[in-house]
Amino acid sequence: MKETLRYLAGIAGPSGFGSKSTAEQVTQISSNSMVQLTAIITGATSGIGAETARVLAKRGVRVVIPARDLKKAVELKERILKESPNAKIILSEIDLSSLASVKRFCTEFLALGLPLNILINNAGIFSQKLEFSEDKIEMTFATNYLGHYLLTEMLLEKMIETAEQTGIQGRIINLSSVIHSWVKRDSFCFSQMLNPNNYNGTRAYAQSKLANILHAKEIARQLKAKNAKVTINAVHPGIVKTGIIRAHKGFITDSLFFIASKLLKSTSQGASTSCYVALSQKTEGISGKYFADCNESNCSALANDESQAQRLWRHTRALIHRRLQVCNIKHQL
Ligand SMILES: NC(=O)c1ccc[n+]([C@@H]2O[C@H](COP(=O)([O-])OP(=O)(O)OC[C@H]3O[C@@H](n4cnc5c(N)ncnc54)[C@H](OP(=O)(O)O)[C@@H]3O)[C@@H](O)[C@H]2O)c1
Repeated sequence: MKETLRYLAGIAGPSGFGSKSTAEQVTQISSNSMVQLTAIITGATSGIGAETARVLAKRGVRVVIPARDLKKAVELKERILKESPNAKIILSEIDLSSLASVKRFCTEFLALGLPLNILINNAGIFSQKLEFSEDKIEMTFATNYLGHYLLTEMLLEKMIETAEQTGIQGRIINLSSVIHSWVKRDSFCFSQMLNPNNYNGTRAYAQSKLANILHAKEIARQLKAKNAKVTINAVHPGIVKTGIIRAHKGFITDSLFFIASKLLKSTSQGASTSCYVALSQKTEGISGKYFADCNESNCSALANDESQAQRLWRHTRALIHRRLQVCNIKHQL
C-alpha cells in the first residue's frame, strides 16, 4: 500500500528520484563531468530504448545502436542529431533472436577497436503466438534472454579491458519487468522454455524477464569473483505504453489501459531507471541488484535464488556452445 502511494505520488526514494523522474532529470548531473563513454543499447529503434539512446547521446555518450530494422535506426539517428548535432551514433545490424546474428554483430563491433563502457540489454518482445527462432528456440526466450546472454558474454572482456584502461567502471543493465514475479518455481524449466508444450505468451514473457534478472545476478557474482571493474544490474522500467504493449490491440486491452492510465509512465519516465543505473555516481559499485523507479527494489525469492541463477547460466552456456557448433560457427566464450 505504502509502495503504491509512493508510486502514484511520485515520491522520491533514497536516490532522490522516483516514479515520475524522467531520463533527462536523472542524468542532469552526469552531463558536465563526463568523459566520452561508449554505450551499446539494444532495442533502441522504439519505446524505452529510443528515449534511452536520445538522452545518453545528449549527455555526450557515443551510442552504438544494433537494430534489426536499419531504416528505423537511421530515422532515430536523424532525430537525435537534430537535437544534439555533435552526437556520435553508430548503427549496426542485429537480430537478437539469432545466435549467428548476435555473433556477427559482436565480431563487427570488436573489430572497430572502440572502448565499451555501457551495455544496455533493452530489446524485448511479447508474443501471444508460439513462434520459433531460426535456432528453433521459442522466440520470446530467444530474443529477450538468449540473444542478450550471448551479446554480454562476447562483449564482457572488452568491457573489463576498457574499465582497466580508463579506470571508469563498466556497467551492464538488463531490462526486466515486475512481471518476473509471476513465475512459479515449478514452471521455470529450461527445456520447456526452449520448446514449450503448452505455450502461454504472458508466461513466456515473464519467464524471459526472470531469466534477465538471474543472468544479472550470476554475471555479477562472476565479475566480483574476478575483481572486475564492471557491474551488472536488472531494472523494471515501469509500465509504459510502447510497441510491446500496443501489439496487444483490442477492446479489453485498450479499456484496461484507459482505466490504468494513472499508473502508466511516459516513455521518458520509463527510460529513467536504465539511464540512472547507467550514469549516476550513486550506482557506482552496485552490482547484482534490481532497480525500479530509480531506486534499488526487491525482486522475487526465485529471482534471488543463487543456485537457480547458476543452473540457468550453465544450461544456457551449454546450449549456446552446442547450437553454434551445429551451425559450424567457431565460438570462443
Ligand atoms: N513497456 C513496458 O511497459 C515495459 C514494462 C516492463 C519491461 N519492459 C521492457 O523494456 C524493454 C523495452 O521495451 P519497450 O516497451 O520499449 O518495447 P518496444 O517499444 O516494443 O521496443 C522493443 C525494441 O526491441 C527491438 N527488438 C525486438 N525484437 C528484436 C530482435 N529480434 N532483434 C533486435 N531488436 C529487437 C525492437 O525493434 P523493432 O523496432 O525492429 O521492432 C524495439 O526496438 C523490453 O525489454 C521490455 O521487456 C517494458
